Amino acid sequence: MKKIVIIDGGPRKTFNTASILEKIAEGAASAGSIIEVKTVRLYSLDYKGCMSCMACKIKDRASNICKFKDALTPVLEEIAEADGLVLGSPIYFGDVTGQMRTFLERLAFPWLSYNDYSITAAKRMPVLLVETMNGTPERNNSNGYGSMEHCIAQALGDPERLTAYNTYQVKDYSRYELAGFSEEAKRQYRDNHWEQDLQQAYDAGRRMAERILNINI
Ligand SMILES: Cc1cc2nc3c(=O)[nH]c(=O)nc-3n(C[C@H](O)[C@H](O)[C@H](O)COP(=O)(O)O)c2cc1C
Repeated sequence: MKKIVIIDGGPRKTFNTASILEKIAEGAASAGSIIEVKTVRLYSLDYKGCMSCMACKIKDRASNICKFKDALTPVLEEIAEADGLVLGSPIYFGDVTGQMRTFLERLAFPWLSYNDYSITAAKRMPVLLVETMNGTPERNNSNGYGSMEHCIAQALGDPERLTAYNTYQVKDYSRYELAGFSEEAKRQYRDNHWEQDLQQAYDAGRRMAERILNINI
């Protein structure tokens, strides 16, 4: 059995990020029953960012998996043994959500060696980084996964990226103080792009699963 872990770093269980991640899961699962897909919702877990306890860097007992114990511990252990990783987040003020960033501190700090500054995970694997946002390809303020992207690329391998732009932020714009957005323009963009975004998500999930299966043939 091969496992893909999907980390949902958004708070809304049925909106844009969750829908894209669900399609990725569907695509991955379509590659065959040998692929298990597990989705973890960070907002359902009670956890901290890196506590700077330095337990991962104790002499002769250094670990590239975080040693701090809380609700994130089993997730980090599962990722270390996984065959593929998908991270998804809405963009908040130009970055991934605080929950995603907090999770990434715990994931990546144990990878970093202060002996030689190498960045090494327990295992390399395909990675997909997903962002959803109000911005458009022409106009967006997203810094995406920021400096964490370099750590991820070094530790796990070059990530694939998938972005859903100009998403619907609410179901009915007329009920909110959102005059800065034209609902008509949003609707038009969604009509032209959303199904395509979902299809790309499905394809990316399938591609990841096929890559995992091919690697291990
Ligand atoms: C607190 C907050 C900050 C946001 N900041 C940005 C931003 O800086 N840039 C952007 O393009 N969209 C921004 N957005 C819009 C969301 O990224 C976008 O609606 C996203 O698709 C929401 O994902 P969800 O539907 O999965 O919750 C922000 C939304 C919220 C709630």
